[in-house]
Amino acid sequence: MSDIEKILITEEQIKKRVKELGEQISRDYQDGNLVLIGILKGAVVFLADLMREINIDVTIDFMSVSSYGADSESSGVVRILKDLEHSIEGRDILIVEDIVDTGLTLAYLKDLLESRNPRSVKIAAFLDKPERRKTEITPDYLGYTVPDEFLVGYGLDYAELYRYLPYVAVLSPKVYNK
Ligand code: IMP
Repeated sequence: MSDIEKILITEEQIKKRVKELGEQISRDYQDGNLVLIGILKGAVVFLADLMREINIDVTIDFMSVSSYGADSESSGVVRILKDLEHSIEGRDILIVEDIVDTGLTLAYLKDLLESRNPRSVKIAAFLDKPERRKTEITPDYLGYTVPDEFLVGYGLDYAELYRYLPYVAVLSPKVYNK
């Protein structure tokens, strides 16, 4: 695709890593009561793959959030556009995210979910851009650490496009400079 500068993580690499994460999560939550909470829309692809690599009982739920503030940068104050359907009291929560960037969205969500009396709250992120972090958030389960470049594919979008790409890629700068 001509809008793509280069492929950073291939479909095969994604599949292998997600399988490993699923195995690790299945081991860690053997005695648990696990619910995967996907953050819409970016986490949809990762969550769909991850849940099929988990071999213990698991339920799923979704939240949709948007960051307050005019610029595209996360402000840390989050507006809930769609809340969970089910109570998480006493449950083991795994927040599933596409990418941790500043970490502000996840820091807010983790605090919010912890206030609802779950048994535990952890984070599974497919990608991490640690260079951009503005808060102390570290994914408990991580696919890949990536450089500070604008990425698309495997759930990540630019202007709602490219989420469907089966790989993670660097978007060509000519797309934003149009
Ligand atoms: P933050 O960690 O609060 O700054 O925000 C994380 C969110 O920013 C992610 O869930 C993505 O929706 C978005 N995001 C961060 N980096 C990228 C990127 O490289 N491509 C597409 N979306 C990104």
